[in-house]
Amino acid sequence: MSTKNIILTGFMGTGKSTLGRRLAARLGFRFVDTDLLIEERIGQTIADLFATQGEAAFRRLETDLAKELADQSGLVIATGGGLVLNPLNVKILQQSGLILCLTATPEEILERISRQQHIRPLLQDPAPLNKIRELLAQRDSCYQQFPQVSTSGQNHEQLLGALLRKIHEEDRG
Ligand code: S3P
Repeated sequence: MSTKNIILTGFMGTGKSTLGRRLAARLGFRFVDTDLLIEERIGQTIADLFATQGEAAFRRLETDLAKELADQSGLVIATGGGLVLNPLNVKILQQSGLILCLTATPEEILERISRQQHIRPLLQDPAPLNKIRELLAQRDSCYQQFPQVSTSGQNHEQLLGALLRKIHEEDRG
C-alpha cells in the first residue's frame, strides 16, 4: 500500500473509532483518535472544553493535531466528526494519506450515540434526531468530497472488509 496514513472521517456515530481500531490492528498501523488524544493532553473532556473555552478553542487544537499527525506515517487516524469542516485540516491531512468518510442514517447515528457514554456537545438538543438531520445537511457537501463507506446493516468484520476493499481501490487510483 502506498498511502502513508489512513484517515477515517464522517459524522458522529458513524463508527470511526471502532472501525479505525480494527483497521489499524489488521494493517499493523498505530491507531490515533483525535478526540481522545486531545482529551488526554488537556486533561479535560471535549464537552468540558466546549463549556469552558468554547468550540473555537477545540477547533484550534484539532488543527494543531492535524499538523502534528500529518508529519507521521503508519497511522490510522479517526478524526472528530467536525475536523474536516476546516479546509485547512483537509489539505494538511490529504497530503499525509487517504481520507475516507464513513456514513450511517440519522436513525442509526442517534441509536449508536445514545448507547455511548461520552457527551457530544453539538447534539445536546431536545430534538436530537432533527439536530442530526440538520447538521448532516449542513455538512453534506464537505463529507461528499471523500470516498464514502456505508456502515449500515453490516457486522464489524464485513465493514472491515468493505473498508479494506475501498482502500485498495483508492490506492490503485
Ligand atoms: C464533533 C464530533 C465529535 C467531537 C466534538 C465535535 C463534530 O467527535 O469531535 O464533539 O463537530 O462533529 P465524534 O465524531 O468522534 O463524535
